[in-house]
Amino acid sequence: MYSEKFQKSIKAVEEARERNIAYEPARMTAKQKEDLLAAYHPDYKQDEFEELKIGPNKGEKVPRELAAMLQAHSRISAESVDLSKPDYDVDVLIIGGGGAGASAAIEANEAGADVMIVTKLRIGDANTMMAEGGIQAADKPNDSPAIHFVDAFGGGHFAAKRELLSKLVCDAPEAIRWLESLGVEFDKTPDGTMVTTHGGGTSRKRMHAAKDYSGAEIMRTLRDEVLNRRIPVVDFTAAIELILDENGNAAGAVLMNMETKDLLVAKAKTVVIATGGAGRMHYQGFPTSNHYGATADGLVLGYRAGAKLLYADTLQYHPTGAAYPEQIFGALVTEKVRSLGAKLVNRNGEVFMHPLETRDVAAASIIRECGDRGNGVDTGNGEGVWLDTPMIEKIGGEGTIERRIPAMMRMFEKYGIDIRKEPILVYPTLHYQNGGLDITPDGMTTNVRNLFVAGEAVGGIHGRNRLMGNSLLDIIVFGRSAGRSAAAESRSAAVGKLTLDHVATFEKEISDAGISTDMVSPKLLPNYTGKANI
Ligand code: FUM
Repeated sequence: MYSEKFQKSIKAVEEARERNIAYEPARMTAKQKEDLLAAYHPDYKQDEFEELKIGPNKGEKVPRELAAMLQAHSRISAESVDLSKPDYDVDVLIIGGGGAGASAAIEANEAGADVMIVTKLRIGDANTMMAEGGIQAADKPNDSPAIHFVDAFGGGHFAAKRELLSKLVCDAPEAIRWLESLGVEFDKTPDGTMVTTHGGGTSRKRMHAAKDYSGAEIMRTLRDEVLNRRIPVVDFTAAIELILDENGNAAGAVLMNMETKDLLVAKAKTVVIATGGAGRMHYQGFPTSNHYGATADGLVLGYRAGAKLLYADTLQYHPTGAAYPEQIFGALVTEKVRSLGAKLVNRNGEVFMHPLETRDVAAASIIRECGDRGNGVDTGNGEGVWLDTPMIEKIGGEGTIERRIPAMMRMFEKYGIDIRKEPILVYPTLHYQNGGLDITPDGMTTNVRNLFVAGEAVGGIHGRNRLMGNSLLDIIVFGRSAGRSAAAESRSAAVGKLTLDHVATFEKEISDAGISTDMVSPKLLPNYTGKANI
């Protein structure tokens, strides 16, 4: 139920609804997209980026907030930790308890490795759990991994590392079969055929989903599998520094109990970083759809140990974050809402873009509509545009919303908004870290041996923009593959003397570069109190 101040605009949306359903807006040309992005996408705001002064990506620009963390002090000094008596000694240490970490753990365990997960929150407290719309895989007769590749390569501005993207799309059908075999309940028609839909930038319907709880269903299943296999999970314990051995190979991590702040040492033959994204960094002041723990920890850990970043200057702002009511500001409104037929309209009820443009283009288009074009709706907490959800029931028939996107229905219902009858207000929200640590197809970082990465902490799989549903896919494909590779590598890895010399070296680099900061990293949790970063 919206207050009086929204009613005039809602009336305009309602009056235009039938006309808007019939209206097929043109797709933008490549040139129109280029100009739009340059003028309105947050990635193109040069003064929001800072050149790194130290580390493997010295001279490259990253978001200001990330630069500050990458060039901050360690939480420990190299001498303060006794590495001689590790608290844990395993083959494969997995840092992160989301979908990528869990997939890696399952495969490493399957390969016979002694594997352990550490996570600063609890297993499953991760962006995976919050993913809604679905997971892409080209497994229908009219589709193929090659077509999937072309869609994703173009959507990512032709910047994806080809060998990574190729692995993603080729392993996708098997990823779906694996998830099903573990117990994921995908949406199906009565004859057992998978229900698939479009996402922005897809030329085929290849989005598999479990209603709009896709991530929760996948994470539930993976978590059960980890627990059933009795893989040790150390909860509420953060990795705060990687440990290398005297040969410069990854060999474990210094851990911190999040409650007591006690330090522990985990020695490992191989390490997998699966720490997820960075939404809680709130780059450029954006709200986020991300989990509370998404603070780019893996990028900091890897960078300080010498691992290179790729495309750390590109973020994804999901076009449709909730802009109203304030209680759910920034929460994800799944792209599936648009896949099912809802269009984006401005305060005058006018459709201003094709609803399934790629995310970067859609986000920039909304920012322009609210900004320079002056066609946004004042939400009382910024601006937004309407996503005309009642169109879905008109197109798909009564009951479509409850059947296909019940989570969306419930989220707004709590605030008295019935999305079957009333449109909702949306604005871009910080959703995904396109860049991350640079890896080879087996998941190992390009320049630190025995250090693997999977999931959102990887850079280069999607290029400079990711299509919907390719993230749930990449956590499975690259999580599984990192687990298998880390287990295989651990069989021959000879770990030399453990050292934290890289921490001391990095500290010297900070000082030599004249960087003055009292910040420590990794950040671990967002700081909403305004008190000092601890
Ligand atoms: O819109 C969504 O449901 C998000 C999906 C994704 O980021 O892949």
